[in-house]
Amino acid sequence: MTDDELLDLARAVREKAYCPYSNFRVGAALLDENGQVHVGCNVENAAYPQGNCAETSAIAAMIAAGGQRIVTIAVAGGGEARTRACTPCGGCRQRIYEFADENTRVIVKDDDDEWHTYTINDLLPSSFHL
Ligand code: THU
Repeated sequence: MTDDELLDLARAVREKAYCPYSNFRVGAALLDENGQVHVGCNVENAAYPQGNCAETSAIAAMIAAGGQRIVTIAVAGGGEARTRACTPCGGCRQRIYEFADENTRVIVKDDDDEWHTYTINDLLPSSFHL
């Protein structure tokens, strides 16, 4: 599974986003430690705080399938028309952290199709853990 393939899966599931309130579609695709891929999109709700982010949905799918560690997670965000760089929100950084290690890669592409690769420590330094 290449980074481009993972991003393509994130872009594909992004089309399934349920986001009538923000019209901001997000898709996420992650590769777990078993070599399995899990995808998720954002799912909004009329009671706004009840919405789920794409990364949250993909992590839930990973756990349901028996995965425990994120090797790579690709996030594709943006409006209706095209993919725009979308780094995970603060809450999702904490959720990714739960299932990440120092080698976990978070990848996005920006408007110019340039890759950006982050570690979870880049995104969430001095993070909370029990
Ligand atoms: N969203 C995600 O799915 N992932 C993020 O990391 C950032 C935000 C969603 C939540 C909401 O449905 C929409 O994007 C606008 O905030």
